[in-house]
Amino acid sequence: MEEQLLSLLRQMTLDEKIAQMLQLATPFFKGADDEGMITGPMAQMGVSEQQVQNAGSVLGLSGARQVINIQQAHLNHNRLGIPLLVMSDIVHGFKTIFPVPLAIGCSWDPELAEKSAEIAAREAAVSGVHVTYAPMVDLVRDPRWGRVMESTGEDPYLNSLFARAFVRGFQGKNLTEDTDRVAACVKHFAAYGAVEAGRDYNTVDLSERQLREYYLPAYKAALDEGCEMVMTSFNTVDGIPASGNRWLLRKLLREEWGFDGGVISDWGAVKELIPHGVAADEAEAAYKAVRAGVDIEMMTPCYVRHLAKLVENGDVEERLIDEAVLRILRLKQKLGLFENPLRGADPQREREVVFCEAHRAVSRGLATKSCVLLKNDNVLPLSKEQRIALIGPFARSGDILGAWSWQGSQEDAVSLYEGMASKTEASRLLVAEGCGVETRGTEEQRREALAAAREADVIVLALGEHSGMSGEASCRADIRLPQAQLELIQELKLLNKPTVAVLFNGRPLDLHGLVDEVDAVLEAWFPGSEGGAAVADLLFGEARPSGRLTMSFPYSVGQVPVYYNAYNTGRPHVPDAPDHYVSKYLDIPNEPLFPFGFGLTYTTFEYGEPRLSADEMTEDRPLTVSVRVTNTGPLPGEEVVQLYIRDLAGDVVRPIKELKDFRKISLEPGETAEVAFTISERQLRYYHSDLTYASDAGEFRVYVGPNSRDAAELRFRLTKKREAGDPAWQ
Ligand code: BGC
Ligand code: BGC
Repeated sequence: MEEQLLSLLRQMTLDEKIAQMLQLATPFFKGADDEGMITGPMAQMGVSEQQVQNAGSVLGLSGARQVINIQQAHLNHNRLGIPLLVMSDIVHGFKTIFPVPLAIGCSWDPELAEKSAEIAAREAAVSGVHVTYAPMVDLVRDPRWGRVMESTGEDPYLNSLFARAFVRGFQGKNLTEDTDRVAACVKHFAAYGAVEAGRDYNTVDLSERQLREYYLPAYKAALDEGCEMVMTSFNTVDGIPASGNRWLLRKLLREEWGFDGGVISDWGAVKELIPHGVAADEAEAAYKAVRAGVDIEMMTPCYVRHLAKLVENGDVEERLIDEAVLRILRLKQKLGLFENPLRGADPQREREVVFCEAHRAVSRGLATKSCVLLKNDNVLPLSKEQRIALIGPFARSGDILGAWSWQGSQEDAVSLYEGMASKTEASRLLVAEGCGVETRGTEEQRREALAAAREADVIVLALGEHSGMSGEASCRADIRLPQAQLELIQELKLLNKPTVAVLFNGRPLDLHGLVDEVDAVLEAWFPGSEGGAAVADLLFGEARPSGRLTMSFPYSVGQVPVYYNAYNTGRPHVPDAPDHYVSKYLDIPNEPLFPFGFGLTYTTFEYGEPRLSADEMTEDRPLTVSVRVTNTGPLPGEEVVQLYIRDLAGDVVRPIKELKDFRKISLEPGETAEVAFTISERQLRYYHSDLTYASDAGEFRVYVGPNSRDAAELRFRLTKKREAGDPAWQ
């Protein structure tokens, strides 16, 4: 097999090889039915017709007929008949849209996440896609950053579990045989989630320890699961843009981690080495990117215009080009494209599979698991006997898919109104918009809202951010609900009626002006195609909230970044023992409004005293910590029992809590479960001052509980065999 690729490589001219390293968007290509190629975009970018004919891959293309058409035309023009690789952003669904990844994270259910990726892959594959630019596994701590909606949150352990699950779901077990799967491309390598001030594309500057401890594990997990490709990030890492960063891409990714798949730049990121200020011109950008190890340049022409000359001058070894091209060809071979360039593209199956009932049912199920109940003072679940006023800009809106749902259609999405109307009699459901997402309601809209509210027993407010308020290049400095909606809340509050707020949004919000004004808050995120149906299931108690936050909700933006796995500092603030010279604010609490791991249910759970099997462990004798959890409330419910650990005296400072394990359990009223976790020495390892990965002998705390704040504490020691002369703590 490899021999065939090598022989193909030998037949390729240098220009043909370099063109394999070019990726262009769909408008550059024409189908077999069309006459000629599209010249407008080519002239603009300065690539030739021949370079497009030899290009290795296309971006943003899908639809079985169009893919077949373009692939056939490409094969007609391409001297050696090398098929195009079709890549697209299938991030949280293709046409059946699932909740945004941040919401999926809140399900704490990697199996369902895997299922969602499997469905996304199937829909994409039958419409001709070969590779998805997903999963996005950037760890996030700053809700101002619009792209937090694409991540599963702030925890490296949980993010890694989801990274693996998404890769398994997209790729399946065998990409050659299983043409209902697509190759995954993990992004954005690396640490894009740490952009300063939460502003997109901004500087990232982290210590290597921060990188390794928090930011890198999820990318590594995706690769350990067999992820085929890696996409670079837009940001700098230690002063060097990721797309030209030899340490990151060659030393870490290729040499240390042994990754041998393809690396693609993010959109335009090779040429962006110029404005970043590390390349004087396109030629230098090409030189730096190819030497760093970027195999495919997305949407800029630095490679096709300059690499040949750089090779001829002897500035770039042809070996680097050959390696890059081989990686691209290997992926094409793995996808079976040489034998079957049309692969899964099938208009007939596309009609049957895409957006089918079965897929939408999974989306609905996942949406119910992704919503997080943040507050509930005895109003939820609603009863069908109540008269309900559904008010707000999201009452009837289909804008609940979130960013990266380019094939999804808002018209096909089930709105909250539709979801609720299917469950309750029309006469009991009054609906009004009240105001726009960002625009004040007209006199008439407000009158209508007040009239509906007056007649109702309970008000359901449908509030949030429109989907353009998060996602790429959509950062906000003020993360409260827009003023128009805060005013609507104030007006309705005067009626003193039980009020539930349902939030549709893509980031943790500052909930001032909302949380204290209403009786219940359900965070629905952007829940996807079946969002309104899923939320209605929850509101009426036909499904029960079980989501838990995977990203802290700040008390206010002034705390940001605020995250649970922080360090203690030398002067920690102890709320019960006030002191002036400690790490705190004068005007707001240190704690987030809602912590990592938090979420309510329709019932109550009581934790017994956790027990440790012993108070000492060794490298080969693990411990067990167990706890009894009882459903003490009136309804069934799901609890996420969480295990955190803290190393009290490390070689370097250690987080005050680190999630190490969790169990999601389902209990009937009165039912008790015994939950047991094993703690082994491996789980206590971390990067020491010399970056070796090891554990420390000494004292640890272990916490078991319902979230990162309210967890009972126990202690144990790790003892290690000592050599003569070693101090006790080694
Ligand atoms: C985004 C990537 C995406 C790429 C291709 C870029 O702007 O940062 O996440 O995969 O475009 O659409
Ligand atoms: C301050 C120092 C100061 C020292 C002695 C500390 O609390 O941080 O700046 O010099 O007290 O007054």
